[in-house]
Amino acid sequence: MDSIHIVGGKRLEGAIPISGAKNAALTLLPCALLTDEKLTLTNLPRLADVDSFGHLLNMLGVSTKVEGVKKGEFGRRMTLQADDLHSTVAPYDMVRRMRASILVLGPMLARAGESTVSLPGGCAIGDRPIDLHLRALEAMGAEIELAAGYVKASAPNGGRISGGDFSFPVVSVGATENALMAAVLATGRTQLFNAAREPEIVDLCNLLVAMGAQIQGIGSSHLIIDGVEKLHGCTYAVMPDRIEAGSYACAAGITGGSIDLVGARPEDMLATTNALAQCGLIVEFHDNGIKVSADGKLRPLALSTAPFPGFATDMQAQFMAMLCMADGESFLEETIFENRYMHVPELRRMGANIDVRGRSAIVHGVNGLTGASVMATDLRASMSLILAGLAAEGETEVLRVYHLDRGYERLEEKLSAVGATIERRSAG
Ligand code: EPZ
Repeated sequence: MDSIHIVGGKRLEGAIPISGAKNAALTLLPCALLTDEKLTLTNLPRLADVDSFGHLLNMLGVSTKVEGVKKGEFGRRMTLQADDLHSTVAPYDMVRRMRASILVLGPMLARAGESTVSLPGGCAIGDRPIDLHLRALEAMGAEIELAAGYVKASAPNGGRISGGDFSFPVVSVGATENALMAAVLATGRTQLFNAAREPEIVDLCNLLVAMGAQIQGIGSSHLIIDGVEKLHGCTYAVMPDRIEAGSYACAAGITGGSIDLVGARPEDMLATTNALAQCGLIVEFHDNGIKVSADGKLRPLALSTAPFPGFATDMQAQFMAMLCMADGESFLEETIFENRYMHVPELRRMGANIDVRGRSAIVHGVNGLTGASVMATDLRASMSLILAGLAAEGETEVLRVYHLDRGYERLEEKLSAVGATIERRSAG
């Protein structure tokens, strides 16, 4: 297993190109199932999860062709075509490695009239049930069976689901995505209430409309989808990754530096940029990105995670690392997942002073952190350890970096380019 080694204490300065968004790519890829025509996605990030999703689609009979990075483009281009589906089953072996595999349930049901997906287990940050995915599909006319660790969704008499109304009791990104991808080929109208409004959902709606879907209320929590007979292929660029951008903004904050996040879109991440400004950082929006610069000691703040447009849960661990260096006490509350403080024990080993009570954490600012060998546990937790290592005195070794590779493309390259002393070592 690879590890990442950082010699901390360097002030980071320069520009970082922001890649295509992992959490958009993982919901755009399964849209290939909704048509027998070619779907080309551009600006795809080079990430383990994107590759895994491509393999899953191949197992279902979707052909995929990846082209290198074209001149002037950052991301990869992938052309997908589902003109010869030979399976409607997403097997346990794939789903256990990537829980986003559940996002083939809706589109496969819409296309083939049935879909079987291994139940994703929990993960480090929580048990992450899929009950809302299933209830939404049932409200749209699907029959749901659970057996032997798999869930099977089928349309009555192997035809098409009818569509219907569903109000989400809890905002769920994935369940909204599955419901959207099922509704676009239903025979009637679907209304989703209390739907997730994350920018990745907007990106999904924009792609579906480009494929010929009829969706009203895009960007709002009330989505109205009128099913159509058929969808066609198209070429579509994945949105920039707002969480990657926010993570590198924290790198500027924690090292007292200045980083230009090239390609970041302010409208995707205003809760993050507001929080950065509250910490005392200078945030400048410009034509092709956002520049974030430290301006003296970081100020502490109170943060509560919430569905978009609130402060993203995927930014909580990174802010916690940065707030370890703030001048005073910060208060964090994690309202989305039940176990998203796995980074705390590892940060403490680097000298952080953090108290956790249930879903709340108090971060007592310290004068400095010291490098150590630390263990990544989940994607965003591992980024918080990288951030702490960038600021810490001495060397930090982050183990189990496969977590990082799921969500951060070319991390060492991007951080080295702005002055970090960072390298990846293979375990031989
Ligand atoms: C997506 O996960 C993201 N993953 C997560 O990013 C992100 O943290 C999360 O949305 C919240 O923004 C991808 O997009 C691939 P949810 P998802 O359904 O869809 C509960 C990262 O680091 N819930 O919005 O699984 C659930 O337990 C990852 O990039 C149900 O109760 O999240 C949680 O408490 C981590 N029943 C809350 O809703 C359900 O059927 C929000 O989960 C579904 C969810």
